[in-house]
Amino acid sequence: MNDQQQLLIVSNRGPLRFSVSSDGEVTAKRGGGGLVTALSALTATRPVTWVASALSDDDAAVAERGAYRDGNLTLRLVQHDREEYDRYYNVFANPTLWFVHHYLWSLALEPSVDRNVRLAWEAGYVPVNERFAEAAAEELAEAGPRPLVMVHDYQLFMVPGSLRARVPDAVIHHFTHIPWPQPDYWRVLPVDVRTAIHESMLACDVVGLHTPRYARSFLQCCERFVPNAQVDVRGGEAEFQGRRIRARAYPISVNPDEFERLAAEPAVVDAEPKVLEARPEKLILRVDRTDPSKNVVRGFSAFDLFLSDHPEWAGRVTMLALLDPSRPEIPEYAEYVGAIQRAARAVNDRYYTGDWMPIDLRISDNFPEAVAAYKHYDVLLVNAIFDGMNLIAKEAPLINERDGVLILSENTGAHVELGRYALTVNPFDIQATADAIHEALVMPEQERHQRIEAIRRQVREHDIDRWIRDQLDDLAEVDGVEAPEALR
Ligand code: F6P
Repeated sequence: MNDQQQLLIVSNRGPLRFSVSSDGEVTAKRGGGGLVTALSALTATRPVTWVASALSDDDAAVAERGAYRDGNLTLRLVQHDREEYDRYYNVFANPTLWFVHHYLWSLALEPSVDRNVRLAWEAGYVPVNERFAEAAAEELAEAGPRPLVMVHDYQLFMVPGSLRARVPDAVIHHFTHIPWPQPDYWRVLPVDVRTAIHESMLACDVVGLHTPRYARSFLQCCERFVPNAQVDVRGGEAEFQGRRIRARAYPISVNPDEFERLAAEPAVVDAEPKVLEARPEKLILRVDRTDPSKNVVRGFSAFDLFLSDHPEWAGRVTMLALLDPSRPEIPEYAEYVGAIQRAARAVNDRYYTGDWMPIDLRISDNFPEAVAAYKHYDVLLVNAIFDGMNLIAKEAPLINERDGVLILSENTGAHVELGRYALTVNPFDIQATADAIHEALVMPEQERHQRIEAIRRQVREHDIDRWIRDQLDDLAEVDGVEAPEALR
């Protein structure tokens, strides 16, 4: 990557959300999510154009006025037809693709690839991706040679192919923030769909994933589904249509300094009493979106088992579940919220004593409260069924004040880096999870301290800047040009 090269980011969710007052005044708020935080480091050092969806009527009103500029950032919001976007987001990307990537379908009964799913692909996912590619190509119209395009996540698998056709000399990078499932599970999707997705991804120069296992899965899928591709799984490369594609692991991370700053913010400090009132002697914490991949219900069942195996802990430990509502329009997600509430109620009905509620379930979008809880847990439970990375496992230990123990699912990307400092659990094994809860609660202080310190070291040494730098270095290799000093 060189200083003349234009840098374009393409993602479904953008870095800013807008509100427009009745007299037309526009206010921009930072968009949510790790992706936005991660990539804003780039806007600090060089001009970046970002193409993202207009997600609300106010976003659309801003889009009507043309690109939005703020310092180094030029934001181009893509407007979508409402129905087309609904098919793309609420049917095909979620749950169809999301459930494939996280192995969530109960295959005996679902999914059925019916007219609705077909329509969601043909008249939702594909055209919305086309619109993104078109907007990206328009933004590159004035670009110099070899513009660099970074496309993000499973919502946009069809962008690389379409963009390559429009801008043949672009350097195209795609990063997938979720697991890449093994080839047999992709066979849930029709042949034409899975082939089209993998062919499009092979239009990239670099394909980024969180772990070497996902990178291998991606290449194995290309080997099975794209007959004309020459794939070298061990070498981490493929050749397709005369081009070389690298598939690499770049484990995403966080900005540790930012979390230390956040921990002292007034909104976080104000939220602390509400967290502390949930803790009798010890606090077990989980922080998740209400996503079926997060395995909240089995987490509650494991806590139930633990309480029945260890009655001496009754009244002394509470599980605080801070859950951010997610994708409410999707029936599978709405049903999952019901299952979470029922499971919590069953445990509470069984053990409630009048002054002790075993599970404190809070479903709301409250980031300051989550950060406050990071400071005060004794045990952090991350038992996801499958999870691309899981940034909670990285960020919470940075600011925890009680040498809290991390219980971590072996099926998270974070487990590759943090597994040896955590208590590892198989997310389906609720007895093992119950045993891990007990082990964490009785772990000697010195061991707890050593483990959390090791996690902090790992995260500090592999922070978000390194995630970006490693990718830019590999992209520079594509181009034969060194990354500029400012980004190293
Ligand atoms: O990391 C996975 C991801 O889907 C991102 O692409 C997305 O920004 C985030 O999770 C939240 O999901 P959504 O945008 O559907 O709310």
